[in-house]
Amino acid sequence: MDTKQELCQWEAAAAEYRRVQESSAFSAQNRALVEHRFSGIGAVRILDAGCGYGQYTAWFAQQGARVTGCDGARAMLELAQERYPGCRFDLADLTGTLPYPDSAFDLVFCNQVLMDLPQIDCTAAEFARVLRAGGRLWFSIVHPAFYLGEWVAGADGKKRAKEISGYLTWQERTGNFWGKSTHYHRPLCDYLNLFARCGFSLTELTEPPAYDPDENTADLPLFLCAEFVKVGQGQRL
Ligand SMILES: C[S@@+](CC[C@H](N)C(=O)[O-])C[C@H]1O[C@@H](n2cnc3c(N)ncnc32)[C@H](O)[C@@H]1O
Repeated sequence: MDTKQELCQWEAAAAEYRRVQESSAFSAQNRALVEHRFSGIGAVRILDAGCGYGQYTAWFAQQGARVTGCDGARAMLELAQERYPGCRFDLADLTGTLPYPDSAFDLVFCNQVLMDLPQIDCTAAEFARVLRAGGRLWFSIVHPAFYLGEWVAGADGKKRAKEISGYLTWQERTGNFWGKSTHYHRPLCDYLNLFARCGFSLTELTEPPAYDPDENTADLPLFLCAEFVKVGQGQRL
């Protein structure tokens, strides 16, 4: 599926995506992670890349940040602008050149977006370009090691483990959570090596336990969060 097609899915899914986000346990866990990391961040320049309906753009603005949200789906941006008229939202395709000058931001924040993009090479290079030297990149994705696995129930009937296959293989899979959206699986090394090649140095990787320990084992993370500092292009020895 190409970028235009995957963005059409997000156009159609926008309203339902917002409804699910506002009522689900997994999005509450995601929000708690973000708030824990960034509360009180202050007047830094932030790009909320793939901002959706603007929930985190607005939250960062409340923390005192100078934040811009961008997304490739007009319907998402319409929801964002309607609910958060004081925030800035731009239409931008994250698989292409971003409409911002070099070094425009101190932080690129990209929550639950990268696994929804068919290609991320240009995305990573653009994140590096729009960040100042020493700036930070923070992203979260659904955990690539477990997300596509099938749950296996234990003797008590609860979901206890996951059966994984095809982890090392690039995969495209369309799901139906808020209308159709397409997930692009890549192994963790693809993400980490790509950002390393683009001049980022990893500062923290977190794998928080599952959001619903009654339903799923708390030993398997649903999300993966990674934080980097922009240090410049690395030299290979
Ligand atoms: C799972 S949602 C995450 C939204 C938001 N970051 C949040 O946490 O609520 C993925 C977002 O990525 C956006 N997106 C998907 N493909 C894109 C692309 N090629 N360029 C820009 N945004 C894209 C979608 O429109 C959607 O808003």
